[in-house]
Amino acid sequence: MKVDLTTTIKNLKFRNPVTVASGTYGTTDEYAGYVEPKKLGAIITKTITVKPRAGNPMPRICETSAGMLNAIGLQNKGLEDFLKNKIPYFQKLKVPLIVSIAGESVSEFSKLAETFDRLKDVVKALEVNLSCPNVETGGVNFMKKQERILDAVKAVRDKTSLVTFAKISPELGDVIEIAGKVIEQGMDGISLINTLRGMAINIHTRSSRLAKDFGGLSGPAIKPVALRYVYQVKKEYNVPVIASGGICDTRDALEFLMVGADLLAVGTANFVIPAATVDILKGIEAFMKKEKIQDLGKLRGSYKPACERGEGCSR
Ligand SMILES: Cc1cc2nc3c(=O)[nH]c(=O)nc-3n(C[C@H](O)[C@H](O)[C@H](O)COP(=O)(O)O)c2cc1C
Repeated sequence: MKVDLTTTIKNLKFRNPVTVASGTYGTTDEYAGYVEPKKLGAIITKTITVKPRAGNPMPRICETSAGMLNAIGLQNKGLEDFLKNKIPYFQKLKVPLIVSIAGESVSEFSKLAETFDRLKDVVKALEVNLSCPNVETGGVNFMKKQERILDAVKAVRDKTSLVTFAKISPELGDVIEIAGKVIEQGMDGISLINTLRGMAINIHTRSSRLAKDFGGLSGPAIKPVALRYVYQVKKEYNVPVIASGGICDTRDALEFLMVGADLLAVGTANFVIPAATVDILKGIEAFMKKEKIQDLGKLRGSYKPACERGEGCSR
């Protein structure tokens, strides 16, 4: 039996729903020895900023019992370098490219959106990162004031007709309320969730295991939280959702599909199992064959809420 994994979002067609979470896949070619990037449904880039950013001092990642902490701080070589050195690679690759962008000001968000709007042959969508917890300027601290979030997404919407996703995190405040507001400002979909701020201490030195006090927690520890938000946002607004947060294996991926996720962004798992994305892809296919489900659309959103089963209804 052949199964159809095609996923459609607005005018975009993805051959399957499996992609990579921003910042967890290098610049893609590093993974080419483990995974044929062509097999992915889409590629989401590391967040690109207008100016190059060195990121935070090291150490800036550490393992914890159920995930990792990172305080990378949006390290990247900036817009100009990305256009010159990376866009040609993606042009050849021919996998739908979703570029993650972040500005330190509203005008930077405008500039990024305007620039990528001119590259529609290769860039298919933008993920507007409103939620990096690890930077002093831009990111979660800048965005804590809700009017700034709304100004940033409005600036992006005004400058591009590309499909746009706002990436939000519980660190920003009420996820459901913010999702509603950015959709009102014209965002096509939501990307959920970015990392949750956490700490890890070296008990011998009594200092942080990172150079900073806090980092963003990702991996299995945040999966139940991410799953709940994807479910709620999908239920409340029925817009396209990119899910990330502890998607490590097929079972995780199926849970996110069942609550309605459109794309599944594999993040921390890439560091543990470099071929996690293709393993998950094969696993979804095998599950569908076993359950005799031909079309992914039949699986997506098939979760049966407790209240429909006559049990407790959660909000
Ligand atoms: C090392 C690292 C770097 C990250 N960099 C970014 C980034 O540049 N932009 C962004 O939007 N999210 C970034 N994230 C967050 C991931 O894209 C993802 O939303 C989050 O890690 C949850 O997914 P996971 O639990 O599968 O890792 C980063 C995460 C990690 C672990």
